[in-house]
Amino acid sequence: MAIPALSLHAFRSAQRAAPLSDFGRELLEGLSRSPRSISPKFFYDVAGSQLFDRICDLPEYYPTRTEMRILTECAPEIAAQIGPNADVVEFGAGSLTKVRLLLDALHVPRRYVPIDISGEHLEGAAQRLRADYPQIAVQPVVADYTMPLVLPSRGEGLGQRVGFFPGSTLGNFSPEEALAFLQLAQRLLRGGGLLLGVDLVKDPARLHAAYNDAQGVTAAFNLNLLRRANRELGTDFDLEGFTHAAFYNAPLRRIEMHLVSRRAQSVRLDGQRFDFEEGETIHTENSHKFTVEGLHALAVKAGLKPAAVWTDPERLFSVHWLQSPAAQ
Ligand code: TRP
Repeated sequence: MAIPALSLHAFRSAQRAAPLSDFGRELLEGLSRSPRSISPKFFYDVAGSQLFDRICDLPEYYPTRTEMRILTECAPEIAAQIGPNADVVEFGAGSLTKVRLLLDALHVPRRYVPIDISGEHLEGAAQRLRADYPQIAVQPVVADYTMPLVLPSRGEGLGQRVGFFPGSTLGNFSPEEALAFLQLAQRLLRGGGLLLGVDLVKDPARLHAAYNDAQGVTAAFNLNLLRRANRELGTDFDLEGFTHAAFYNAPLRRIEMHLVSRRAQSVRLDGQRFDFEEGETIHTENSHKFTVEGLHALAVKAGLKPAAVWTDPERLFSVHWLQSPAAQ
């Protein structure tokens, strides 16, 4: 069918009238709230995913390397807990590096289903993984894992289903969302369990440094959200007009990340104007820190059974095995 040519003017108004994407809708809601906020799931476009990979390598950012150390050093115990022929499902898989440690540790893992919201990043990473693990069925799913989802059907011979949720991403949810996620995981993983990595409460100075790196990569990652909005939604955020701020909120045991308006300014989205005062912020992320006891209590509330926990000698980070009992 021929597509009628549009004049530039008609094209522009068609573009403006186009329904907003999820990102657009959530940003519109987030800018309309007070205080302003946006879900961190929109950080991860291609550029955001790459910046995130760089954060994980920063000298100040201890969580990734500490978790990888735990996964490596405790591999025999983890493998013994999980058993052979595992059917591994990863929530928010990113660049698929951590799971290699798990796949290396396990006794003949059979299938690996990485779930990620960023499809472009995922397919390339899945290809590289297939090349290195030809005996594992790699079946990526592009989806928002905070929503109920259907996994590819299980073939013959698979062992227990193992959810893998590393990186303290659980801490990026609100306490209510974290509980909801654990409940969803509990249902999805019945008869198996969840291997969960969470960051621990510690000296605030150490936490502060991890989210305010000297090279400014975390700042670039935070600001990339505005760059993405300008590109995808046609907003006119002045990238020089906002700055990265991250601090530890001790009573709530969380790092908060914000984008701070450096001056009074306004921004347009979908024909609406949003005014910012100097110092006004968009709250872009929380990173909750846990105690082992607190995490156990949350898991039990979600119907999961804490069965093992591994930490590093400094007790910076923790990896948990939470069993999901089979349905009665
Ligand atoms: N979930 C990890 C954390 O909270 C990683 C992470 C998510 C992160 N978003 C981030 C790290 C933004 C730095 C900045 O630490």
